[in-house]
Amino acid sequence: MKRVDDFRLQLGKNELVPIIIGGMGVDISTAELALEAARLGGIGHISDALVHDVSDRRFDTEFVKEKTKFYKHNIDNSDKSIIQFDLGKLAEATRLHVGRTMDAKRGNGLVFLNCMEKLTMNGPRETLQVRLNSALDAGIDGITLSAGLHLGSFGLMAEHKRFRDAKLGIIVSSVRALQLFLRKTARLNRLPDFVIIEGPLAGGHLGFGMDWAQYDLATIVGEVAQFLKTEQLNIPLVAAGGIFTGTDAVNFLNNGAAAVQVATRFTIANECGLPDKVKQEYFKASEDDIIVNGVSPTG
Ligand SMILES: Cc1cc2nc3c(=O)[nH]c(=O)nc-3n(C[C@H](O)[C@H](O)[C@H](O)COP(=O)(O)O)c2cc1C
Repeated sequence: MKRVDDFRLQLGKNELVPIIIGGMGVDISTAELALEAARLGGIGHISDALVHDVSDRRFDTEFVKEKTKFYKHNIDNSDKSIIQFDLGKLAEATRLHVGRTMDAKRGNGLVFLNCMEKLTMNGPRETLQVRLNSALDAGIDGITLSAGLHLGSFGLMAEHKRFRDAKLGIIVSSVRALQLFLRKTARLNRLPDFVIIEGPLAGGHLGFGMDWAQYDLATIVGEVAQFLKTEQLNIPLVAAGGIFTGTDAVNFLNNGAAAVQVATRFTIANECGLPDKVKQEYFKASEDDIIVNGVSPTG
């Protein structure tokens, strides 16, 4: 019986432990968690969701206070559509969050940024452009494009000097979504360095409806692998969603996945940003406690 450690993820010149800790927004996948994954030779994610708040918490900046002061006339208004993000401050907060994390990195692993397209910040294109390019400026090893189709995101980074050497990947849940992405980015002559396939058990920002139970991760991984083979594209595939034990991971690694992305399993780690009380609830929970709903603030 093989073990996870018998496998390695080859990403360009990097040979990595084939475990990626999935991005968990608003500092659930903290810098500490991502750095520990990298120290141990794998890949960890930080997230840029609510990066102003995260920066204030980590570095005592006052981004939120300043913005609240500026928009105080709108505080009681439930319509927040007039709120605009100052792009300079967004860049500053992102560079701080990413840059300080990268400065602290030790070991042979990598730290990536999870970047959700559906986080539109009332200015989808401009804010996304700033988020992506500021993260590259600040030395992030790679970016995982998630929660959305990201049809324009490669284009938004194409002028950056690190566009061709940073590790850039995409999360999809179907061959169709990957085809769309590849078609839209073909003119840039730049393939993703990795493709993460989230099956229905990954929860969150997926394309599945309430018929999610009819889909299964192994089948989708097989379909995407077949598609890439037909197209003669050699892109590492990462399986995600419901992978909990070493045996689960080895099953995917044995069947052609180059790595696994795991998140829930790490939510009870010391380094995870969830409050201790919530971590205890995770310990206590059984399968019967799981409720599936269609609510996700980021699509
Ligand atoms: C608490 C939590 C928060 C998450 N937040 C994000 C997020 O902000 N962006 C994203 O792309 N995926 C997010 N995910 C999905 C994970 O990155 C990962 O792909 C998925 O959870 C893998 O399935 P698993 O939790 O069964 O291991 C989140 C998952 C969890 C458990």
